[in-house]
Amino acid sequence: MKLRKIMIIGVGNVGSTTAYTLVNRGFCEEIALVDLNKELVYGHQQDLLDAAAYRQNMVKISLREANDCADIDIAIICVTSGLAQKSRAEELIGTSKIVANIVPGMMKNGFKGIFLIATNPCDAITYYVWKLSGLPKHRILGTGVWLDTVRLRRLLGESMDIGPQSIDAFIVGEHGDSQFPVWSHSSLYGIQLNQLNKTQLNFELIGDKARKMGFEIVNCKHCTEYGIGSTIAEICQHIMTNSHRALALSCILDGEYGYHDVAIGVPAILDQHGIKKIITLDFNSQEQKLFDNSINIIKNYITHLPK
Ligand code: 2OP
Repeated sequence: MKLRKIMIIGVGNVGSTTAYTLVNRGFCEEIALVDLNKELVYGHQQDLLDAAAYRQNMVKISLREANDCADIDIAIICVTSGLAQKSRAEELIGTSKIVANIVPGMMKNGFKGIFLIATNPCDAITYYVWKLSGLPKHRILGTGVWLDTVRLRRLLGESMDIGPQSIDAFIVGEHGDSQFPVWSHSSLYGIQLNQLNKTQLNFELIGDKARKMGFEIVNCKHCTEYGIGSTIAEICQHIMTNSHRALALSCILDGEYGYHDVAIGVPAILDQHGIKKIITLDFNSQEQKLFDNSINIIKNYITHLPK
């Protein structure tokens, strides 16, 4: 396995938990931390180095400026505007301004890697990073609905007493209120989930709980971090191991699903270069309506992005 370099931009709860998860997974050679708060980022570096001392293999944990990025393979955008979250959308203006201050400088300084966006609203910011960077669309991806998909799988798993990894269910659309589970393409050991007893499993309620889980957690502890940290680390691992695994991620559409010039959560195959291929699903008419609605919501956010 080729060990490579990951930069984390923004070391709040999400960025620092991601760094800790990456240290423990042990598949990268360097984790470069970037933050305006120099005391905080130094504290995280030293704490992470203490954790890394238990690893068999060496991992370098460096402090860098975002512009020192020419040798970075994956840059993870975890910045926040510092607003307490009530909705992901309310972060749009604050986070888009921060991203606009970072991404063009990285491009001028020779960034050649993949951008992975976790900052909310994830789909609109993924789109914005694509526009700001001028990179080909396969090198920009957002965590999007993969976290929601993992939540759906674990909630379904809890209800059936089955490990979440055995359940092939997933969510598409916005990483936000308009997301929806694609029941028509979800299965358990090859049995379509919508052919199982709906009242027993109460699918709609479970899908709803997955959709609301982010804010159920935020309302209790003011942030989410472990779920998203593991989600980011998992995506990085698939890229770095060239796994060709299909995950539901925020991808820039260029004609897929009949849409252009928008980022939205759809299943896609990941390889060492980023998004290898977007998988196009044949939605039923209800799912198509929900997808169109999600597209319209994200497109509306996009119109509010700074030019
Ligand atoms: C999450 O879903 C709040 O977007 C964040 O965990």
